[in-house]
Amino acid sequence: MYIRGKGRNHNRRQLMKKAIIVYESVYENTKKIAEAISDGINKVEGVECVVKKTGEIHTDDLCDYDAILLGCPNHNQGPALNLVRFIDRAAIVHLKAKIGASFDTYTGGNRDVAVAKLETIIQEKLPGISLEGRFSAKVTGRKGPLADDEEARAQEFGKEFGQKLIE
Ligand SMILES: Cc1cc2nc3c(=O)[nH]c(=O)nc-3n(C[C@H](O)[C@H](O)[C@H](O)COP(=O)(O)O)c2cc1C
Repeated sequence: MYIRGKGRNHNRRQLMKKAIIVYESVYENTKKIAEAISDGINKVEGVECVVKKTGEIHTDDLCDYDAILLGCPNHNQGPALNLVRFIDRAAIVHLKAKIGASFDTYTGGNRDVAVAKLETIIQEKLPGISLEGRFSAKVTGRKGPLADDEEARAQEFGKEFGQKLIE
């Protein structure tokens, strides 16, 4: 998509970078983190981000995006199965030259546990995505809510990721 460049030369046209966040969530805490990351990305001029649950997008449509972010809850010390299955389906789509990031939500002391495994799965199955960031958000119990500040941190993470997309 093209947008009109702002500034002195109004005829300058700038290429809009597109990002998508695909997430899985049972109690909607990971959904909130996905939306906060998206808000952060959308604060960066020249970048637009959409958020979809795994069942809401066909894997072929991933080709339309410059950046793909994948996130889910920690289920039994690993990434939630619905997201792993989505990645399996995406593995037959030839994704090339994308940047990406991954994130999880967790309880207790399990920061980064599921997202580290998710990274390994992405690297193995979607080698066309170069991972540029990882985020892990704490929930205060199985159903949530999110711990204080996690949405604000997620938004900041999104902003930093969005900057990488226009570099
Ligand atoms: C079946 C199941 C297994 C879980 N196993 C773990 C676990 O091993 N480690 C952990 O930190 N949290 C575990 N949790 C808690 C989830 O991480 C928590 O429910 C999730 O972060 C909430 O996100 P959501 O609202 O997006 O579903 C588990 C939750 C469920 C439902």
